[in-house]
Amino acid sequence: MPDRYAVIGHPIAHSKSPLIHGLFAQATGQDMVYQAIDGGAAPGGFERALTDFRAAGGRGLNVTLPFKLAALAVADLASEDARLAGAANALRFEDGRIEARNFDGIGLVRDIEVNLGLPLAGRRVLLLGAGGATRGAVRPLARAGAARIVIANRTADKARTLAAELAPHLDGVPLVGGGLAALATGEAFEVVINATSASLSGAAPELPACAFAPGALAYDMVYGQGLTPFLRLARAAGCARLADGVGMLVEQAAEAFAWWRGVRPDTREALARLTVPLA
Ligand code: ATR
Repeated sequence: MPDRYAVIGHPIAHSKSPLIHGLFAQATGQDMVYQAIDGGAAPGGFERALTDFRAAGGRGLNVTLPFKLAALAVADLASEDARLAGAANALRFEDGRIEARNFDGIGLVRDIEVNLGLPLAGRRVLLLGAGGATRGAVRPLARAGAARIVIANRTADKARTLAAELAPHLDGVPLVGGGLAALATGEAFEVVINATSASLSGAAPELPACAFAPGALAYDMVYGQGLTPFLRLARAAGCARLADGVGMLVEQAAEAFAWWRGVRPDTREALARLTVPLA
């Protein structure tokens, strides 16, 4: 009997996760099946689906919107990344316990460093947005050696509060939060990451061109949408290195796969299959 894994979310029909994990399983010769589960919109749907999946012998789950908070809440054991993110995107069922991790941030770091070839050590990083996506990214970026991290958000207070909460957990890497307007008179960054949901509504955060340092990487966590409004804004500001979040998606999946199976898959084929040109 192959081992069972799945991704759970709502909606879930368009998830790339089964394709990605199918490629990983094939390439590494792992005897496993990977399905997609719709947790539904009704309260308790996630917990019921999780219980059923475990009862049927399920070994682990990837968790996507809107269940990442609920996934952390059901865990018996959670990594510090997951606790600080306030959310989990991967669960493992072992010895009768539920273990939770959050691989979104490390997926982002690996994409930037390995796939895009930009070491983060010593870089100034600007994170746009102060929601769950930023929350999950800060600690892994600090661990990668970022010189300084700034969170800028439309609602400045949210960024300040988040920075104050996370700063004590970064081993001394400076972290500050503020509004987007403050960027007009401030420093330039070598890495600018859009972690807002603005792209999904066809908008871009109002960001001054001076925020991009010469040669900066502009990274939008959204994927599969070509040139998003944020990436257009970056290009208009003279930024030549543009990336969307497809690599982050593939790399977080690889982290989960390695955690479950003890084998790290090569991500190149999945990346090639899912990459949509930025045009
Ligand atoms: P997630 O958990 O996916 O990060 P979220 O918690 O809803 O989502 O946060 C969305 C983020 O996108 C917020 O930082 C939001 O800014 P506000 O806190 O000011 O609401 C940001 N955001 C959404 N649309 C935006 C836009 N058009 N311009 C700038 N920021 C935007």
